[in-house]
Order: sequence, then structure tokens, then C-alpha cells
Amino acid sequence: MPGRFITFEGIDGAGKSTQLGLALEWARARGLDHLATREPGGTPAGEAIRTMLLEAARAIHPETELLLMFAARNEHLEGVIRPALAGGRWVFCDRFTDASYAYQGGGRGLAPERIAALETWVQHGLQPDLTLLFDVDPGVGRSRRAERAGPVDRFEAQGDGFQRRVREAYLERAARSGGRIVVVNAVQPAESVWLEVERQLEKLRA
Ligand code: TYD
Repeated sequence: MPGRFITFEGIDGAGKSTQLGLALEWARARGLDHLATREPGGTPAGEAIRTMLLEAARAIHPETELLLMFAARNEHLEGVIRPALAGGRWVFCDRFTDASYAYQGGGRGLAPERIAALETWVQHGLQPDLTLLFDVDPGVGRSRRAERAGPVDRFEAQGDGFQRRVREAYLERAARSGGRIVVVNAVQPAESVWLEVERQLEKLRA
């Protein structure tokens, strides 16, 4: 029995981490063999790359940023995601390649063909079974981020214009995803958002 690969996406402050937490409780309650992971990160090398990418003070050329995202992703796919799926586990991943199209493509303005070339290289056709896109406008994302403690990372420091381009790129991808990417209106209270997420997860169990 193959596993399931589910990814969580959205602009910074959309509330995906809360929903990911609820999804893990859902999986636990159903006795599903599962794991939670994140990108960039999920392996020792990947987490080191994450630190490099998120440090606010560090200037990184956009193409270097893209390459580092995919270097971390390759490590993650080979070391964690593929073995887990082969073992029949459910993999819940906080961000994946749609984030590269949204942030490095939409946000930084890199050509989608560049991203697609790396995607083909490291994924060899592997795609998530389901991607939940938590959609809010950048103003909502900004005020939710302001409620959080902790330092502002290099992407959060980019401002509303950047987040707006990221959001547009996500929505455009969702529209062309053939149903893989489900857009969830994340302006609603977390409990209402969860009802929609749960409905989508239950469909994957069938
Ligand atoms: P995020 O997932 O928001 O973590 P936290 O919830 O701890 O703040 O942080 C990861 C950041 O990395 C986020 O701003 C989006 C960015 N990112 C990309 O730019 N490209 C990618 O391919 C991925 C996976 C993430």
C-alpha cells in the first residue's frame, strides 16, 4: 500500500502551521503511520541550508536561493520522503515545490522554466497527492505574523508587494493543477478552516 504525500502551502502568516498540527492529531487518532516534516529542511543538511536561507541579514542571489531550495529538497526526497512513501507512510510536509514557484518564481521573478528544470531533476515525476493552499491576503498574513514572537526571517522581511506576488503565483498554480492544489479560504476562524481540511484528508483515505 503506497503512502500519501500531503503538502501545506500559503503566504507567511496564512495559518498553515496550525492546520498542520490539527492534521497530525487527525492522523494519530486514526492510527495512520505518518510523519511530519518541512521545507526547506527535514534532514540535517537541509536544516543547515534552511538556516542559511532564512537568516535575515544574509544577501543571497535569487538563483542561488532557488538552487539551495532544491539542494535541500533533493536531500529530503532521497533521505526521508521517498523511503517513507515506499513504506506506506503518510507524509505531511510544511511547504514543498509549489513554494519555489510562488516565492522564487512569483516573489523573486525567476522564470518558471528554470524551476521546472530543477523539479524534473530532483522529483522524477513525484508530486504530492494533495496540496492544501491556505489563502489570505497579505494584510491578514502581516497582522497574524505580528502576533507571533520570534525574529523576522528573510522572506517575511520582504513586505506586502512581495507577499502579493507570492499569493498570485500560488493561486495561478492552483488553477492549473488539475485539482491537486485545493485552495482553502484561510480568513475564516481556524475551526472552520479545519473542517475543509479534514474533508480533503478523508477523501484521501477512501
Ligand atoms: P515557513 O515555512 O514560513 O516557516 P515558519 O512557519 O517557521 O516561519 O518558512 C519558510 C520560508 O521559506 C517561507 O518564507 C517560504 C520560504 N520558501 C521559499 O522561498 N521557497 C521554497 O521552495 C520553500 C520550501 C520555502
